[in-house]
Amino acid sequence: MSETFARAHGADPRKARLAGMLHDLARLYPAHRLLRECEERAIPIGEFERENPIVLHAPLSARLAEELFDVRDAAVLSAIRKHTLGDGDMSPLDCVVYLADALEPGRDYDGRAETAALAMRDLRAGMRATIGSSLRYLTQRHLPLAPQTAAAMNTFALRPVQDDNEFGY
Ligand SMILES: [Fe+2]
Repeated sequence: MSETFARAHGADPRKARLAGMLHDLARLYPAHRLLRECEERAIPIGEFERENPIVLHAPLSARLAEELFDVRDAAVLSAIRKHTLGDGDMSPLDCVVYLADALEPGRDYDGRAETAALAMRDLRAGMRATIGSSLRYLTQRHLPLAPQTAAAMNTFALRPVQDDNEFGY
């Protein structure tokens, strides 16, 4: 899915495929191991990460891709690092991997297929819709919003409304 999105949006399909394959290397580690392995590597652990260690699988997976598979490509590592929470600064490759993770057919939620189709046509609109649905999910369950996701919202959900000039002014 990552490769398909990349082809549609001018990102490097080989990098997208590689990031897609390696993005969840640390996904099955329990919380205490995620915290310990990040601490050992001096991977920053913010307040949100401390309370929700599962999200650390993203930066730790990027580090493991380097250590175990000798991945040195900064763009690939960035896409792995940002695949869960997003970020205020995301390249097209970062977006492609983030969207593939959120919209892959194995996930089952209302509107998934429609949002995936939208993301195939328009990367920024796909980001807006996907981040918007994460936000709704979190708000409905009274779950906290990570600062990185808030920053991504600001980049994709707020600014484009002005930048895209959707109303033709
Ligand atoms: Fe993940």
